[in-house]
Amino acid sequence: MNLPSLLAAMPKAELHIHIEGSLEPELIFQLAQRNGVALPYASVEDLRRAYAFSNLQSFLDIYYAGASVLLHEQDFYDMAWAYLQKAAAENVIRAEIFFDPQTHTARGVAMETVIRGLSRACRDAQKIGVEAELILCFLRHLSEEDAFETLEQALPFREHFIGVGLDSSELGHPPEKFARVFAKCRQQGLHLVAHAGEEGPPAYVWAALDVLHVERIDHGVQSAKDPALMKRLAQDRIPLTVCPLSNLKLCVFPTLAQHNLRELLDAGLCATVNSDDPAYFGGYMNANFLQTFAATGLDAQHAYRLARNSFEGSFADASQKQRAI
Ligand code: ADE
Ligand code: ZN
Repeated sequence: MNLPSLLAAMPKAELHIHIEGSLEPELIFQLAQRNGVALPYASVEDLRRAYAFSNLQSFLDIYYAGASVLLHEQDFYDMAWAYLQKAAAENVIRAEIFFDPQTHTARGVAMETVIRGLSRACRDAQKIGVEAELILCFLRHLSEEDAFETLEQALPFREHFIGVGLDSSELGHPPEKFARVFAKCRQQGLHLVAHAGEEGPPAYVWAALDVLHVERIDHGVQSAKDPALMKRLAQDRIPLTVCPLSNLKLCVFPTLAQHNLRELLDAGLCATVNSDDPAYFGGYMNANFLQTFAATGLDAQHAYRLARNSFEGSFADASQKQRAI
């Protein structure tokens, strides 16, 4: 089997996908029409033209505007179902899906509406061969108090999500800001992850590990600047959920050929490949694999390693992991 076919066909887990980032322009317009929401873009093409980002913040501004069309439980279901069908077609057999409830509750959408719509799609995904779980993310540009309130609203639906994460604007919002709310989530038995070292310094990765006690780092590519941190990540097999096309589109690396995925793998880290916000960054899982392998010269051994890492780094139970690895 040639390398592109292997990358497409191999069973894999996706550990870093923001469901709001899977909202394609066509579905944004369809939902806007269905819900009577006015958009500041004349057409799908006009919206797509706005997808030229210079950094994380320039993307987030458009991403939050896109999510404004989501109002009803069925909207959340339709968004997640569209992603899960693509995942199934790309041989993603497990997906751990981030959602940003504060983006919706701040607009008056009930937590229950968000979680029930997403959760129903995840349950239905079993029928198409995808095991899907939800991870609730706190927006780090908002206060810790707001995060506590969000957790309070979500706990009645505790059985519908397996963990919590931390996302949105990284610079100026270090992990320490959320130490107490993460401690409470830990007491609840939730899995913990956080975005760190996407644009932010290695110090944010250290703090995510040692202050928040996360089990995985989302992105983490800036860790390569700190040899002691690289050693820690390798020794403790802390998974990094790397998102190459996202890093390219948000100018974290000038070209894919200059991406440091190979360096992370060669240093013995449990690095994985993921899509982050595929509707905005020009590709789902297989596009991330194909384009990164083509640009960096990774080979079949790397492909097997990345697929294994994705299951090792997942929150699947031990027997499920065993079956996949
Ligand atoms: N929310 C959605 N995508 C994100 C990213 N790449 N970094 C931080 N927050 C996000
Ligand atoms: Zn992300």
